[in-house]
Amino acid sequence: MKNICLNFEKALGVVSKEQIFAQEATVNACMATLHEGNGAGNDFLGWLHLPSSITEAELTEIENTANILRSKCEVVVAIGIGGSYLGTRAVVEAMNNSFDWLHTNDRKNPILLYAGHNIGEDYLYELTEVLKGKQFGIINISKSGTTTEPAIAFRILKKQLEDAVGKEEAKHRIVAITDARKGALRTLADQEGYKTFVIPDNVGGRFSVLTPVGLLPIAVAGINIRELVAGAVAMEKATDQSVPFAENISAQYAAVRNELYKRGKKIEILCNFHPKLHYIGEWWKQLYGESEGKDGKGIFPAAVDLTTDLHSMGQWIQEGERTIYETVISVEKANHSVVVPTDEANLDGLNFLAGKHVDEVNKMAELGTQLAHVDGGVPNIKVTMPEVSPYYIGQLFYFFEKACGISGYILGVNPFNQPGVEAYKKNMFALLNKPGYEKESEAIKSRL
Ligand code: PA5
Repeated sequence: MKNICLNFEKALGVVSKEQIFAQEATVNACMATLHEGNGAGNDFLGWLHLPSSITEAELTEIENTANILRSKCEVVVAIGIGGSYLGTRAVVEAMNNSFDWLHTNDRKNPILLYAGHNIGEDYLYELTEVLKGKQFGIINISKSGTTTEPAIAFRILKKQLEDAVGKEEAKHRIVAITDARKGALRTLADQEGYKTFVIPDNVGGRFSVLTPVGLLPIAVAGINIRELVAGAVAMEKATDQSVPFAENISAQYAAVRNELYKRGKKIEILCNFHPKLHYIGEWWKQLYGESEGKDGKGIFPAAVDLTTDLHSMGQWIQEGERTIYETVISVEKANHSVVVPTDEANLDGLNFLAGKHVDEVNKMAELGTQLAHVDGGVPNIKVTMPEVSPYYIGQLFYFFEKACGISGYILGVNPFNQPGVEAYKKNMFALLNKPGYEKESEAIKSRL
């Protein structure tokens, strides 16, 4: 099997190869800090060896539980937000048929729907409506077990499920994934007798896709989680501390992005030319945004889907403020084949493309865009994956996670906490008069 690879030739100019390789000692020191566990946030390093430490028994238990849900349910709702949801959605959207929900007959897999990632009343209304009369189940995921968005969604859907099938049967269709001991979800799951899976204490939300958080719903969707894990294991080896900088793609990516940042490139745009990778971008934004955006520092992570967004954001990227660089996820080959047909009238003038695969056209759009953006002063990093498959998505997850840990240490922040996300919660609770927030309620009302 090949590995994903990194090419930063087209980022050179703003920064030289020598300047990047001059970072080798710094990067190695940050890598050592990660591996030796003596840096900031060192109680959240469980993800580092997660792929290689998942046991056969753990995978089998996840698959068995997935099979129970698969046998009972036409629809499974994965409830969660941030790291408790984005990894799953990234894999499922990449691997499932884009029009999956229209395949109502001859379905092999339940439809996976999502809740708890917003507080949209209309969204929840439409979800509860669509679930009426359907055999459905719930995977409720929250590491802290106290996050408001998923808790509201769960309260609503639990009631709907119990009303539809009775409390006893509902128990067999609800799985909770949460902390081993603490949090409201742990208490509730233990009290109600739900099947539970534990998110290890030392794995933070945005690094948890290779725990049951991601693996269970992905398995429910009928996707091979063993391949996903195998890909991550391969990348764990390929980016290990023992692999020299010159061959270690996570180390190099961390170095390049920090060197660009030092030279004023404050925004990184993750680009894909494969519409099914949209949620990989969403997962990546959380990983880097929450890990690095603190202490007044951090590259702003943005993402675009191309060529779609070339018709909206393309102008800004080509000619806007020169504070950006791009990281393109490039997929070597499409999984299916569609050829542009010949048209006798040729009114659209497209016969010059007749007989070509759509992906061939896409590749030229990708190459043309890279050259145009580089000419426009946008450094370009390329991450190539041989194909979109669970194996290579597993590689991609681990590659980005490892680089993120190193990169956060290069930047001088704790990449494993997220103190900033508490601010809106405090205000929201104060505004909603949550018991215990009386002082904050008083204070906030005087500001309105
Ligand atoms: O990275 C993190 O830990 C967070 O952003 C979480 O993913 C997110 O807030 C969801 O938290 P929880 O799983 O505790 O509900």
